[in-house]
Amino acid sequence: MAPSVALDRSYLPRHIGIIMDGNGRWAQRKKQLRTQGHLEGLKTAKKIVKAASDLHIPFLTLYVFSTENWKRTAEEVGFIMGLVKQHLKAELDFYRENRIRIRHTGDPGGLPADIVRELREASEDTRSFDGLQVILALNYGGRDAIVRAVRGLLASLMDAPETAGPTDFIENSINEARLRQNLDNPDIPDPDLIIRTAGEYRISNFLLWEGAYAEYYFSDILWPDWTEGDLYAAIATYQQRERRFGGGKP
Ligand code: IPE
Ligand code: IPE
Ligand code: MG
Repeated sequence: MAPSVALDRSYLPRHIGIIMDGNGRWAQRKKQLRTQGHLEGLKTAKKIVKAASDLHIPFLTLYVFSTENWKRTAEEVGFIMGLVKQHLKAELDFYRENRIRIRHTGDPGGLPADIVRELREASEDTRSFDGLQVILALNYGGRDAIVRAVRGLLASLMDAPETAGPTDFIENSINEARLRQNLDNPDIPDPDLIIRTAGEYRISNFLLWEGAYAEYYFSDILWPDWTEGDLYAAIATYQQRERRFGGGKP
């Protein structure tokens, strides 16, 4: 059943990003292992994906594992990777039923080969689905994404050198549009709404380029305790915001 918060269905965010934080604290409060928190967090992620899908939100980016999360214990990292793999294998029917397309953002280079394979297979198997697109940010860092985009752009320039003088060359070759073209998923629009749970007020390297004009929403609730109603409340708040994009008050 849909939550009772009234939403304007004609003004929904096209792209929502979520920093799903607080799994460890949730478990610690319950005197359980941190890994139990990740297990619960995954259940919440599925619930929120379904709610976003039912709302016909086109894009949802979930921050699953950052380029900095390798600093955690080998046990915790291994557990999270195992969860992702298991989930991608087990949930294909759920994605098929809801016509959800799975995509990845982040550096595949630093990920275990079996995870890269599962991500690629899930992306391939769901490629034709026209519903919600879920972008899994895995081994993702906003700075790393920009560095990889610059590398991609430079590599393409070396393949096709332009003939104008050096100043023109730099200005014509390196600009916002071209850098964007070299991000992981250039076809996906910038996020309209970025949510962070668990009472932290920071970005932690999430969507640095794409989030330039996102609306930010911070929730004190730990991710495993998040519900569809919390998603609706975040969207309702977004709908109250006045977006100006630097253009001044209308
Ligand atoms: C978010 O929860 C999940 C990941 C970063 C993988 P945390 O594991 O960061 O939980 P807290 O912040 O320690 O409570
Ligand atoms: C951000 O949460 C990364 C994910 C949710 C995957 P962290 O828990 O890693 O961020 P910090 O360390 O609190 O900034
Ligand atoms: Mg955290």
